[in-house]
Amino acid sequence: MIHPIKKKRILLGVTGSIAAYKSADLASKLTQAGAEVDVILTKAATAFVSLLTFQSVTGRKAYVDADLWGDQGHVVHISLGKEADLFVIAPVTANTMAKMVHGEAGNLLTLTALAAECPILIAPAMDGGMYSHPATQANLEILKSRKVTIIGPEAGHLASGMRAVGRMTEPSDLFGNIRYLFSRSGPLTGKKILVTAGGTQEAIDPVRFITNRSSGKQGFAIAQVAIDMGAEVRLISGPNLLPTPIGVERTDVRSAEEMSAAVISHTANADVLIMAAAVADYRPIKNSSEKIKKSSGIPEIKLKATQDILKNVSEEKKKSGKPKVIIGFAAESKDVIENAEKKLLEKGLDFIVANDISAKDAGFEVDTNRVTIISADGSKEALPLLTKEQVAIAILEKVEEILK
Ligand code: CTP
Repeated sequence: MIHPIKKKRILLGVTGSIAAYKSADLASKLTQAGAEVDVILTKAATAFVSLLTFQSVTGRKAYVDADLWGDQGHVVHISLGKEADLFVIAPVTANTMAKMVHGEAGNLLTLTALAAECPILIAPAMDGGMYSHPATQANLEILKSRKVTIIGPEAGHLASGMRAVGRMTEPSDLFGNIRYLFSRSGPLTGKKILVTAGGTQEAIDPVRFITNRSSGKQGFAIAQVAIDMGAEVRLISGPNLLPTPIGVERTDVRSAEEMSAAVISHTANADVLIMAAAVADYRPIKNSSEKIKKSSGIPEIKLKATQDILKNVSEEKKKSGKPKVIIGFAAESKDVIENAEKKLLEKGLDFIVANDISAKDAGFEVDTNRVTIISADGSKEALPLLTKEQVAIAILEKVEEILK
């Protein structure tokens, strides 16, 4: 799989808002992902950040109004606008938006916006009152009607000291939105993928629960890569603080029972189910509504089995044929392959991703994983130590093959 941003030509326009300092971070993120980033700064933007900042992070020339009358003469705005796959203006001020609405072309940035043939994405930043002003709102409507993608602004602390809607969306989220835009024609376009992630929590009382060491990182990486490959993704996640990949529809659950209900309600609509979650096999029979007190002595916590979600989904598949592909994980501390093969058969899977959780650099909590993919036809593919994103790519490329 090729990263959706790799080799893309991105034109980044920066206008005069304090949020301009954050767009250097965006330029850096895009460059690191393999894009060629050309930057245009307005005169007001250079009051906040320097040309050199952007040239340093992109490794390319950054442009200002003076370039309009430089060696390349009048063509610079045309060539920048023509060569770009996407024109991102972040931050865009109320002033520049108003100019765009009227087709004004008084500086290199607005001139290029008028000449650009590629899609345009803007990230507004301004004070709360300016954002809510009817003039700005009307301008946003007009830009939207012209198919400009508008991201943000967000609510929060503003330079004026106020808290209101007007903050530029964070560079990591803007990066996610750009990644999402470029992913929509990937090899899994039109496919619906359901992914589960993280551990479940089984309540003992209002304070305590039984859980496991699953961080959710592998499941979230699968959701991100599925998005990168063009799929529509629903992520059902146990409790964790991981950011939701842009474009993913997320359902948060706590217990195995909630996860089971969420999976069942979404499988009829899914082409693929990838169960990366570490679902509790047992839960306390009794969930005390009051906190269990020390004074009542050492409690005896009786457990009962939870539903095996994968088994239930495979049974359902026998009747409905949905989802077409079912994938499980096997977290094992010994006899990894034998145990995984048994689960593959018992749970009726297309393939299972087995990992040895006794290794320090693989499995729970860490950012790397070493897995063996075992298929229903008996074939085994032992992968080296990889990042969880690379493991996700291997899994989804296999899904792509099966769906073909
Ligand atoms: N799984 C599930 N429902 C459960 C438990 C597990 O769907 N109640 C899924 C997991 O998401 C995973 C696969 O089954 O994809 C294997 O999970 P694992 O915990 O390794 O195996 P178990 O079936 O729970 O067996 P054991 O705990 O004995 O290893």
